[in-house]
Amino acid sequence: MMLLRPRRSDDLERLAELLERVHRHDGYPRSRPGSFVAFLDRADLLGAWVAELDGQLVGHVAAAPEAAPGALELVQRSTERSADDLGAIVRLFSDPDHRAAGHRIGAQLLAHVQAELWRMGRRPFLDVTTASPGPIAFYRTHGFLEVGTTTHTFPSGVELELAVFLGPDLEGKPA
Ligand SMILES: CC(C)(COP(=O)(O)OP(=O)(O)OC[C@H]1O[C@@H](n2cnc3c(N)ncnc32)[C@H](O)[C@@H]1OP(=O)(O)O)[C@@H](O)C(=O)NCCC(=O)NCCS
Repeated sequence: MMLLRPRRSDDLERLAELLERVHRHDGYPRSRPGSFVAFLDRADLLGAWVAELDGQLVGHVAAAPEAAPGALELVQRSTERSADDLGAIVRLFSDPDHRAAGHRIGAQLLAHVQAELWRMGRRPFLDVTTASPGPIAFYRTHGFLEVGTTTHTFPSGVELELAVFLGPDLEGKPA
């Protein structure tokens, strides 16, 4: 049976191994982080949750005050909400080996983090690379609407175009 629960610090090593597999399988994250643990354990998180299937970690999601530079501003402009009334969904991934079995790991994690953000009085938003049609289709299916694009420049100078999506409001109203 699948269980969603808050992330513990002793989950991080196993989650880092899972994310490394996701990186090889899906190219997420786009640029390989120096440390997968540090990528997951960013200091400013509002919360982080895992999906556990029969004791095995099969997915992860977190909430943060901000996403990529420029994303929050785009969302603020389109909603007229203050930063404290918005929350970014970050680090969402599911185990590629468990996706086909119909557990709906991604959908359940997304619903969970949305509910947590609403509970904090924050409307969800996120960014996703425009080169990822799969996740973009997934977010659209779940009521997220694109509000614009922003460009992230890595220290190497490589640029990544990101689509910024606003999630449904508390009442489940589409963006
Ligand atoms: C995006 C991701 C989290 C979705 O998780 P998942 O466990 O595959 O999703 P689910 O099984 O819950 O699928 C839910 C729905 O989304 C759809 N969906 C999921 N992945 C999809 C894809 N790649 N393309 C199109 N639709 C997709 C499913 O068909 C399903 O639709 P249904 O409700 O009509 O049956 C997962 O594919 C993943 O980890 N991708 C790599 C990491 C990543 O890119 N994360 C996003 C960073 S912004």
